[in-house]
Amino acid sequence: MTDKYAKPFNGLDRYAVVGNPIAHSKSPLIHEAFAKQTNQDISYERILAPLDGFEATVRGLIAKGYKGANVTVPFKFEAYKICDSLTTRVVSSGSGAVNTLINIDGKILGDNTDGVGLRSDIEQNLKFPIADKNILILGAGGAAHGVLNSLVGAKSITIANRTSEKALQLVMSISDINDVRAKMFDELDVPYDLIINATSTGLTDTALPISNIIFAQGCLAYDMMYGRETPFMRQARENGAQVADGLGMLVEQAAEAFYIWRGVRPETQSVIQQIRSLA
Ligand code: ATR
Repeated sequence: MTDKYAKPFNGLDRYAVVGNPIAHSKSPLIHEAFAKQTNQDISYERILAPLDGFEATVRGLIAKGYKGANVTVPFKFEAYKICDSLTTRVVSSGSGAVNTLINIDGKILGDNTDGVGLRSDIEQNLKFPIADKNILILGAGGAAHGVLNSLVGAKSITIANRTSEKALQLVMSISDINDVRAKMFDELDVPYDLIINATSTGLTDTALPISNIIFAQGCLAYDMMYGRETPFMRQARENGAQVADGLGMLVEQAAEAFYIWRGVRPETQSVIQQIRSLA
């Protein structure tokens, strides 16, 4: 039988990103850039897990001595369930999602670096402080769940979603911010300082039914998707917003995972530029 994980690795510490689909993932490029920059001897691969075979795939990696893995769509909730232990930030976030696995003597520790990645990108790279801002989150799926806990310090959070029950559920999961509410898209009738698109509509080039009024003067419109301008980003740009895609978040969440695994914090600006230039 061929070993689907077999790759020459010459004694390097092995890491991987597991998802389905996975061919498009930029994580290997990012981690290779971090490793080069910090002189770490690691290998990092893309692993396609069957939709019904995530746990078996991860157990296979652990058995082979992989030191850690990142988890991407659609497995972040399943990853949470298979962990032997979880970091405090995963537990306290209540998100039920994990994107970073750490192999500790054959046991799996689960962490989630998505929230830290988003906050670092918004505050450090885009120089947009979150404290005391009125924030609107569009979407209430996995992407929204994974980052909500990182928005502590905001003045208010409004979650708008096509399916209202999911927005309400997400509202219930936030305990650290006093002013949190759920709305339907057509109820959005005031401006917000920071608008985060956490829906998957960018994938299908679908415009959201949102009024131009939501874009406050000087606001930041952030799409967690990356790769091209989404209809949300276009609408925001046409309404004078500062616009950002999720590439910076992708690199920042990876940097946090790299730090957890290797104990070294890579510099991210040059890697963001490098990955963007390849897009
Ligand atoms: P992800 O892990 O990428 O967040 P998900 O959990 O399937 O994926 O969530 C997708 C999000 O995009 C949801 O908020 C979804 O809205 P519903 O909860 O109503 O399904 C939202 N979404 C997807 N397609 C949409 C569309 N055409 N219009 C509005 N919202 C959409």
